[in-house]
Amino acid sequence: MKIVLACDHGGYKLKESVKGLLAELELCFEDYGVFDETPADYPEIAARACAAIKDGRFARGIIICGTGVGVSIAANRLKGIKAALCGDEFSARMSREHNDANVLCLGGRVIGPGLASLITKSWLEAEFAGGRHARRVAMIDKND
Ligand code: RB5
Repeated sequence: MKIVLACDHGGYKLKESVKGLLAELELCFEDYGVFDETPADYPEIAARACAAIKDGRFARGIIICGTGVGVSIAANRLKGIKAALCGDEFSARMSREHNDANVLCLGGRVIGPGLASLITKSWLEAEFAGGRHARRVAMIDKND
């Protein structure tokens, strides 16, 4: 599974930490930046990472801004993207099992690296449960 990782300046520090985790887990990922804390526009960053999911280059994405709110709003406007802003492990797992989220959003100014690591691991390990959830997710996709 290939993962695209991206952030704005507010998510830069946490992105570096999540990047370390993905490397440690020996996962296949690409860092789409940003690469420092120079102000950057989160709608563009979310759109670029999500475009790479939509065209099949990546199966999943992790995008980070200051709160995670901006990137999640921007990502969820894009067809084929189901982005989940998570601040706890349970929601992260459920966003995969019940919602089939293909993008995880994190808030770099909200959570620390330890919690981000737990959330990211749960999200990456969990699988979509299908069944009744597939019917519900199809209802969302129908509105794309
Ligand atoms: C940038 O200052 C901040 O607005 C951005 O990172 C994000 O939190 C927006 O939702």
